[in-house]
Parts: sequence; structure tokens; C-alpha cells
Amino acid sequence: MKILTVIGARPQFIKAIALSHAVASTEGVEEVLLHTGQHYDDNMSAVFFRELGLAEPKYRFDLGGGSHGHMTGKQLSAIEDALVSERPDVCLVYGDTNSTLAGALAAAKLHVPVAHVEAGLRSFNRRMPEEVNRVLSDHAATWLFAPTQTAVENLAGEGIKGDRVQLVGDVMYDVARLVIDNPARRTDIVRRLGLEGRPYVVSTLHRQETTDDPARLVAILDALAETAKVMPVILPLHPRTRKTLAGLPQAEKAASVLTMTEPLGFFDMASLLAGARLVVTDSGGLQKEAFFHKVPCVTVRDETEWVELLQLGWNRLPESFDVQGIRTAIAGALASAPGNAGEPYGDGHAAKHILRYLMQTCK
Ligand code: UD1
Repeated sequence: MKILTVIGARPQFIKAIALSHAVASTEGVEEVLLHTGQHYDDNMSAVFFRELGLAEPKYRFDLGGGSHGHMTGKQLSAIEDALVSERPDVCLVYGDTNSTLAGALAAAKLHVPVAHVEAGLRSFNRRMPEEVNRVLSDHAATWLFAPTQTAVENLAGEGIKGDRVQLVGDVMYDVARLVIDNPARRTDIVRRLGLEGRPYVVSTLHRQETTDDPARLVAILDALAETAKVMPVILPLHPRTRKTLAGLPQAEKAASVLTMTEPLGFFDMASLLAGARLVVTDSGGLQKEAFFHKVPCVTVRDETEWVELLQLGWNRLPESFDVQGIRTAIAGALASAPGNAGEPYGDGHAAKHILRYLMQTCK
């Protein structure tokens, strides 16, 4: 069986390592990696290949930046050419980025079966580019690998059901266990940032709905600045957020009391999370990684796809997007004591379940 895997954005490099490991230890399967180049900075892309030992992609394009339509269109055309020359048995895509949609659409049009990993997530907010990508990728997919029961139900609600929907758990949990099960793999980032023995907050902000809304961004930063009076707040900055902040004088004062860093590699981020008191983020992946490390989280968005964590008390959304609303959510999360949560994201072997299913089905 030949799998052509499309990756392009930071979380996809991390997710891909789980399946790539499973492929490496399985006979009769070959994986060809295609990197669209949606993310291209060293600390947004290459660092993950180096650290996680992800193979050099056979196809590497330079198709990042620009508007959504422009980016997706360029990727669609390049992926189509690669699919035509590779003739894989399956085209595998992850998550909800423009690279995901381009891969799913290119393959579906060529009648190459599409496997969508992290299928069925919904925010029910069609203004998010990611929501459009997820819905369309799910509807183009042949096989849908859902991380949660909620995702399975979301798909059923759209008429996608039966054996082609498989509840396999979350590949990000597979990858998080590389550090959780092996504390020796932690880096010295906590010491490097002078945080040893101190409580601290880890925050990331990169979503378009955050960065394109100055009032919201400033309210979040002001709330983080209040928190920084009590404990340090570490903010690794996505390149877009860095650009936005550079043109936003209202954010300068708050930003000056936060500890801003460059985007972090996988092991630095996991090591930082392992010792954190709280996570404040608009990222989908970080919400779950916080939970894997048993750190409470405030998600600074109007809604989240990972509703299990709200129900379990490990995550909360602000009731309003002014400073007070965000501070209240932060105070609530710091005071909370969520209990033992079980395993809402599977058994940590999602990649193996995916590969087994594909090898049985894709003949
Ligand atoms: C994308 C995904 C989002 C995912 C996120 C992970 C879409 C629609 N969104 O969002 O689901 O959570 O990746 O990080 O696909 N930039 C650089 N260097 C880079 C990468 C980006 O400077 O290496 C800048 C560019 O100006 C770019 C902007 O950041 O235009 C946004 O990047 P883009 O890939 O469009 O979206 P993300 O916000 O990263």
C-alpha cells in the first residue's frame, strides 16, 4: 500500500510523526510525504522534522502566504501533479488547514481515496477558515478517522456514517506520550527561562479571529498582563501575531510585561507545558496538549471543537471578551481542581489503529 501524506502547517508535522513511526515498523506499506510549504520559517517547520525525525518530504513546495483562496488554489494544483505521478492507494490529510482541503480536493477529483485524520470536529462557526476546511474535507473523504465520540456524532449529523467512520482516538495524544511517558526527554527550557520552582502561565495566540480583531487581542493581552503581576506569562509568538503586535501601539504596554519568545519546538513546548500552572490559548492543539499534561486551560475563543474538556472542567471559555471576562475565566481556571478525566482522546495508539484499518480496507 502506498500512502501519499499531505502536510504543510506546524501541527501537521507533529501529527504526522505518529503515523510515520507506525509505517516504519510495518511491512507492506510505503509513505510518501508532501509538504506544501504553508509554514516555512525554520521554527514553524524544519525544527519539527529535525527533532521528531520526520523523513525529508519527497515533494516540498513553497506555497504559503497570500489569501486563503490563492494559497489553497496553488496547493491544489501542485498536489494534483504529485498524485498523478505517484498514483498512491490513499491520500492522507490531517486536520483543518488550507493544505488539508487542497489535498482532499485534489485526491477526490482524481478518484484517489482520501483518508481524513481528525475528522468530524466542528465549531459550528463558518466564519472560521478552519471550519470551512474541515467540513469540506470530511465530505470529500472516503475514510474518516475521528478522534472523539463527539466527532463521530457530528459526522452522523451530516449523513456521514457507517464503517468508513472510525473512532481511533487522537494522534496528538500518541505524540504527547513521547514526553509524558519519558520525562528524560524534557529540555531545560524551564531553567533557561528562569522559571524553576515557580508557577507560570503558557499562552499562544495565532488565530485569525484573534489577530484580526484588535479590541479582542488587546483585551486578551491586558488580562494576561494582570496575570503577569502574580506569575510569569510566557508567550511564544506566531509570526502573524508578531506582525500584528508591531502595528498595534495599544498592545505595547501589556506586551512589555509578558515574556515573549520565538515559536518553540515540540520538545521545548512539551517541557514548558509539563511544569505550567495554566494555559491560555486560541489554538486547538494546545488545549488538548494542556490536558495531556494535566494543566487547566482557558481557551480565548467564542467556542471550541474539543467540548469534552469543557465538560470535564479542564478547559473554559470566557463569558465575555473584555478584560474582566477574560480575567474571570483565568481566575476560575487557577482556582479549579478538575478531577481524573479518563481518556477522552483514546488509548495513545491512534496511528496504529488508522494504519491497521487502511491496510485491511485499502486493497
Ligand atoms: C494555520 C491553519 C490553522 C492552524 C495553524 C497552526 C489555515 C487556514 N489555518 O494557521 O488551522 O491552527 O496553521 O499554526 O490553514 N507565517 C510566517 N511564517 C510561517 C508561517 C506563517 O511568516 O512559517 C505568516 C505569514 O504571513 C502567513 C501568516 O503567518 O500569511 C498566517 O499563516 P497561515 O498559514 O495562513 O495561517 P496560520 O495562522 O498559521
